[in-house]
Amino acid sequence: MRKTIIAGNWKMNKTVSETKQFFNELLPIIKEMNANVIIATPFTSLVTASEITKNTIVKIAAQNMGNRLNGAYTGEISPLMLKDINIDYVIIGHSERREYYGDTDFHINEKVKLALQTGVSPILCIGEKLEEREENKTKDVVKTQILEGLKDVSKEDIKNVIIAYEPVWAIGTGKTATPEMAQDVHRYIRDLIEEKYGKEIADEISILYGGSMKPENVVELLNESDIDGGLIGGASLEAKSFAKLIEAGAK
Ligand code: PGA
Repeated sequence: MRKTIIAGNWKMNKTVSETKQFFNELLPIIKEMNANVIIATPFTSLVTASEITKNTIVKIAAQNMGNRLNGAYTGEISPLMLKDINIDYVIIGHSERREYYGDTDFHINEKVKLALQTGVSPILCIGEKLEEREENKTKDVVKTQILEGLKDVSKEDIKNVIIAYEPVWAIGTGKTATPEMAQDVHRYIRDLIEEKYGKEIADEISILYGGSMKPENVVELLNESDIDGGLIGGASLEAKSFAKLIEAGAK
């Protein structure tokens, strides 16, 4: 059985004190819920977030990492540093990284492999832009991003990878893919994984949907058979609305 995962991505939001405030509000609400929750905070909040959520259902993720283990790479954070502060997950290849900071499939693949080698689970983000969808290229784009992003990732390691399908045109825009549109791409991604790694692994891998997921649309999206959770930006910033998403993903 695949896990349903509700993951928040705060992007460049929340100071350390706002981080504490958020968890002080969220944790009591979700205390009794049986859910898998991940929250990706800015680097500066990771230590606080991971300490405050110890022994709860919440796991903490970084939003990016460097593509080397250490050395003269000014401004970068190594997965070894993440591991050292008990961070188990890292978002890799978010469309905002691809778009504004030049992350290419090649670098994303380096980071995915390095994270796995270090024992940090990557959440690999993929998704097409609006013009690509309009030109009927969605599946080609997704295929390239999956095959390049997971190049040389072994059958053993893929079990620690989470995939997030996030159509770029739906991120932060309020426009959500319809459940049918999302399901169609999720199924396609699972088929690609099956071709590369076999049916057992394809059946196990969690594929999250991202792009304006919110309390109003979460249930219908999660009802689709190949949508195993969400990666949520805007609606993860406010504890009460995020708790509603967690509740929808709880058993
Ligand atoms: P959004 O962001 O929920 O604000 O659309 C999703 C994401 O970028 O992961």
